[in-house]
Amino acid sequence: MTQDEMKKAVAKAALEYVQADTIVGVGTGSTANHFIDYLAGIKHKINGTVASSKASADRLKSHGIEVMDLNMVDEIAVYVDGADETNRYGQLVKGGGGALTREKIVAAASRQFVCIVDESKVVDVLGTFPLPIEVIPMARSLVARQVVKMGGEPVYREGFVTDNGNIILDVHGLQIMEPAKLEQELNNIVGVVTNGLFARDPADVVLMGTPDGVKKLD
Ligand code: 5RP
Repeated sequence: MTQDEMKKAVAKAALEYVQADTIVGVGTGSTANHFIDYLAGIKHKINGTVASSKASADRLKSHGIEVMDLNMVDEIAVYVDGADETNRYGQLVKGGGGALTREKIVAAASRQFVCIVDESKVVDVLGTFPLPIEVIPMARSLVARQVVKMGGEPVYREGFVTDNGNIILDVHGLQIMEPAKLEQELNNIVGVVTNGLFARDPADVVLMGTPDGVKKLD
């Protein structure tokens, strides 16, 4: 089974968490794209979606699925999204696609966060995947210097601008032993918009695609 087939299988399994007559939060990336394609099959059962990126909004609309402004929505029942890494507690590194800030916002606005990954994303210790940080452009060097003091090696994601008009620093060389603490410390650096750690508020459910089928991490 290829990695993409595992992504497809786990995306399909997430449909079980979508309830009729509710609003669905939709993530970003190749696994989330498969979820969008499956969601199209039940689009008449849901009340609409809130997207975590312009790319996902465009894909949803291409299927004729309604995309709503978060400010117009009272409650999102479930948020479905992929991740770059997850530990066994559902604490995540996200933002490989650069959509981390909107992803964190939509996740926070949702009752339940269902994370969908293939088995390659499950790790004991977070940090092998470089940790993305969204930064206000004028603060790039200031934030980078602070990150170096914390033991990270920030790399500017050249030529990339987020949906919010900001830049991304990908931080290499971290072994993240205390994800919730690091998430808070990075957020305290002036100029940081968000970092890609989803640890203080982890996923509620992690579904993992494996060659033996979809498993729930517990
Ligand atoms: C985008 C993300 C994605 O969820 C993450 O990069 C995983 O992507 P994929 O499903 O393509 O492996 O955080 O910002």
